[in-house]
Amino acid sequence: MGSFDKIVNLCKNRGFIFPGSEIYDGLANTWDYGPVGVELKNNIKRAWWKKFVQEADNSFGVDADIFMNSKVWDASGHTASFSDPKMDCKCCKTRHRADNLIDAHSKKTVNPDLMSNEEMEQYIYNNKVPCPKCGKCDWTNIRNFNLMFSTSRGVTDEGQNLIYLRPETAQGEFVNFLNVQRSMRAKVPFGIAQIGKAFRNEVTPGNFTFRTIEFEQMEHQWFCKAENSLADYEVYKKKALDFLLSIGFNPEHLRYHDHDKLAHYAKAACDIQFLYPIGWEELNGIHHRGDWDLSRHQEYSGKSMLYLDPYTNEKYIPNVVEYSIGADRLTLAVLCEAYDEQTLEGGDTRVVMHFHPAIAPYKVAVLPLQKNLSEKAMEVYRKLSKNFMVTYDEAGSIGKRYRRQDEIGTPMCVTIDFDTLEDNSVTIRDRDTMEQIRLPIEKLVEYVSEKVQY
Ligand code: GAP
Repeated sequence: MGSFDKIVNLCKNRGFIFPGSEIYDGLANTWDYGPVGVELKNNIKRAWWKKFVQEADNSFGVDADIFMNSKVWDASGHTASFSDPKMDCKCCKTRHRADNLIDAHSKKTVNPDLMSNEEMEQYIYNNKVPCPKCGKCDWTNIRNFNLMFSTSRGVTDEGQNLIYLRPETAQGEFVNFLNVQRSMRAKVPFGIAQIGKAFRNEVTPGNFTFRTIEFEQMEHQWFCKAENSLADYEVYKKKALDFLLSIGFNPEHLRYHDHDKLAHYAKAACDIQFLYPIGWEELNGIHHRGDWDLSRHQEYSGKSMLYLDPYTNEKYIPNVVEYSIGADRLTLAVLCEAYDEQTLEGGDTRVVMHFHPAIAPYKVAVLPLQKNLSEKAMEVYRKLSKNFMVTYDEAGSIGKRYRRQDEIGTPMCVTIDFDTLEDNSVTIRDRDTMEQIRLPIEKLVEYVSEKVQY
């Protein structure tokens, strides 16, 4: 695993992730995925969808709008209490999260999640916790800062309505519970999944794409009977971990972390943490949400959320087990996990990204040994690119071209040489072992398919 600095540099130089609006000196904490990064993130999203929708027994996808009726956010509790405890440094005027200040000062030996605002203020004053920017200790009191971005809807200035950019995708799944249940004739237990953008006006974003103000979430709500909900919660804890292992994570870099403070409606909640270069941090959450969400939507919308069980004729509001993971935070974890620096025989070093082949941005690189083999090489490229994302490179020595592909994690390099013109075969080099085999062109598609299967 590399340091954040090395990963940020590689991401910029190799087309994974660029700073947002860079030619205008950027916009803090915004990032744009480049040609290589967008493939990686799309493949991660596809793998997630495959596990949680396509291969799941009773789960359905939706794609809800980012804008929702503002009452949704009253019902969900976001307008009243989706906030961070912020403090301003009176000296340098920078804004900070009180809980983060305590985490950093106590090196996580004190848990601010268990403290009230007053207790956090006391801790910060008693311990003279300094401002990370200017080093002084002169703080305002804590104020709660709502994290939702708002805008207004309407064609004239008068009568404009306040609307929000959704801070989570989950509500799009809850408000469509009945639509999905009826249209798909779904029977409880069943799931609704969604991948989409969410927005949070985070007080202290940072650490590259770890915490940003615009990000994508992949969320899955499992609607189940109350008596089964705790068992189903355990099932989702395991499924969430299995998914991460299936896309190549080392189990030693993942751990469960139970929440210390539970919402009043929740019976259990935990995160899976990943060992980022900055230490153990949340990667995803699994939350037992009771019947809170559907009950609140019933109360605020006036529409019944009761489900009629066709087997028992009972009417009830289902419980929910939520599994939520940020696509960008996961992509960052995948990048950290894949990064490797190796010293080769002869003393050369190489940076290699060991992505699982299924999520690697490009599956194959086609490399003619010399430029006058490009016609044959393009023939191979066209054949492969009907099936996979393939890249083509004819510039520089073959050694340098291999290194470039290693750095973007291309699992296979196909070399076209003069023998190819005679025997219609190519050489395939494996990214991880660097071993090479010879294969007829007609067998290439089948060979690559097997290697990249997920
Ligand atoms: N619906 C539940 C929910 O949104 P959350 O713990 O606030 O729960 C779920 O967010 C996941 O979304 C997190 O585990 C993380 O992967 C991702 N996430 C949350 N805030 C983020 C941010 N500011 N930037 C990037 N990813 C974020």
